[in-house]
Amino acid sequence: MIKRLFGATGVQVPVIGQGTWRMGESRSSQKQEIASLRLGIELGLTHIDTAEMYADGGAERIVAQAIKGVPRESLFLVTKVLPSNASATGTVKACEQSLKRLETDHVDVFLVHWWSSHHPIADTMRAMQTLVTRGLTRFVGVSNFSVAQMREAQTALGATRLACNQVLYHLRDRGIESELLPHCGRERVAVVGYTPLNRGGFLRDAVAEIAKRHGRTTRQVTLNFLTRRAPLFTIPKASQPDHVRENAAALDFKLTPDELRAIDEAF
Ligand SMILES: NC(=O)c1ccc[n+]([C@@H]2O[C@H](COP(=O)([O-])OP(=O)(O)OC[C@H]3O[C@@H](n4cnc5c(N)ncnc54)[C@H](OP(=O)(O)O)[C@@H]3O)[C@@H](O)[C@H]2O)c1
Repeated sequence: MIKRLFGATGVQVPVIGQGTWRMGESRSSQKQEIASLRLGIELGLTHIDTAEMYADGGAERIVAQAIKGVPRESLFLVTKVLPSNASATGTVKACEQSLKRLETDHVDVFLVHWWSSHHPIADTMRAMQTLVTRGLTRFVGVSNFSVAQMREAQTALGATRLACNQVLYHLRDRGIESELLPHCGRERVAVVGYTPLNRGGFLRDAVAEIAKRHGRTTRQVTLNFLTRRAPLFTIPKASQPDHVRENAAALDFKLTPDELRAIDEAF
């Protein structure tokens, strides 16, 4: 799996990672979810995204099972605090609880899931700094923040750099490309696109034609396009082994400038 620098952290992170939303919700699918994440890790998808919100901590417990015995330093674990919990003390407590569920002593990035209307950003970011000082997270990030909100968070953080903004990014929603993506490029903040496969939403002929030409699937062309340059990363969620294998091989080929343009124009 190709890696690239994750914002200004100095850390190389796999461009394609693994999402976990909807995992840990039902007992009957847990075994398969753990096996899929585990397979993904073996295939190099070691950037794993989860959140306290997902299945009320259940997804974090699934991740804990999947990473058992995997050297911690080979993983890039990301989890998130809910905005309703993002007070100065609540943020720290949320991280401690996530770590317990993840059965690890630190995460790589701790994110605020979206802008909190309950708690001032300065309180949340102060707590984030405490977490960095205590070694409970290596880096601080945000999710679903606008450029203006990112600026406010960065001002509150002072010398600590925002590592990433995790945002919606798929072929039918490329809203981040006008302002947020250029801003993050300039500021060296990683952009982690979520819901890259639009939860299975349909794709246009342009993608199908290109996929056929390369002997690839439409999903692989999609993931390839969505990570076509820095500072983009993507985190598809897959709980079926075949999907994991497909996603892990999505960067084994290169889209030509003409193909990139054709997809660009089709969406
Ligand atoms: N920060 C936020 O606010 C936020 C919001 C939403 C999501 N996220 C994160 O982003 C992750 C990804 O987003 P998402 O789960 O919403 O949607 P997604 O990754 O776009 O789509 C997941 C769906 O696509 C299927 N799939 C995966 N790989 C496939 C393939 N190669 N071929 C066909 N189908 C495939 C999965 O099926 P199977 O599971 O059956 O394999 C699942 O039904 C989440 O899991 C979560 O970690 C973050």
